Amino acid sequence: MDVGEVLISAEDIEAKLAEMGAAITRDYEGRSPLMVGVLKGAFIVMADLARHIDLPLEFDFMAVSSYGAATQTSGVVRILKDLDQEIADRHILIVEDIIDSGLTLNYLLKSLRVRKPASLEVAALLVKKGIQRVPLDVKYTGFEIGPEFVIGYGLDYAGKYRNLPYVGVLESE
Ligand code: IMP
Ligand code: MG
Repeated sequence: MDVGEVLISAEDIEAKLAEMGAAITRDYEGRSPLMVGVLKGAFIVMADLARHIDLPLEFDFMAVSSYGAATQTSGVVRILKDLDQEIADRHILIVEDIIDSGLTLNYLLKSLRVRKPASLEVAALLVKKGIQRVPLDVKYTGFEIGPEFVIGYGLDYAGKYRNLPYVGVLESE
């Protein structure tokens, strides 16, 4: 695959997910959170993060798509796959691969909040620093990165590269 430089190595991701998992294990002691992965990108982060969490977890997934041009997030999100279960009075932890404008996550949070979960928090492997267009409270962040387009570890370019074990920057040529 013609991928560019490694931005975050597999080893660094593994170490960070272990830290995040330990924090989540501490924070949710005595509880049974429902981890909600946002498809497709979050499937790898969710699988690896969950194995660092020592709690009786349950899992569910949502799939969303943004309306509008592919290169720009419109903020209008369509739910392609909703949760399989009710979340009233459950502790919900949304797992995201990356937060860019934050508009997708903002929409998701709004649509889950009205279902009255006991708590609603977010864990994201990557957050693009300083470019969120809405204020977001991400409780568990892996790495803050620049505005560049990244691939790997669940993140795709035109559907490819999700299975790279590291986060890389696409080569321009
Ligand atoms: P947001 O609504 O702008 O925060 O966009 C979030 C979604 O856009 C993510 O869940 C990704 O699917 C996608 N995305 C944003 N930045 C990148 C990137 O650098 N590489 C791959 N996908 C990205
Ligand atoms: Mg995504």
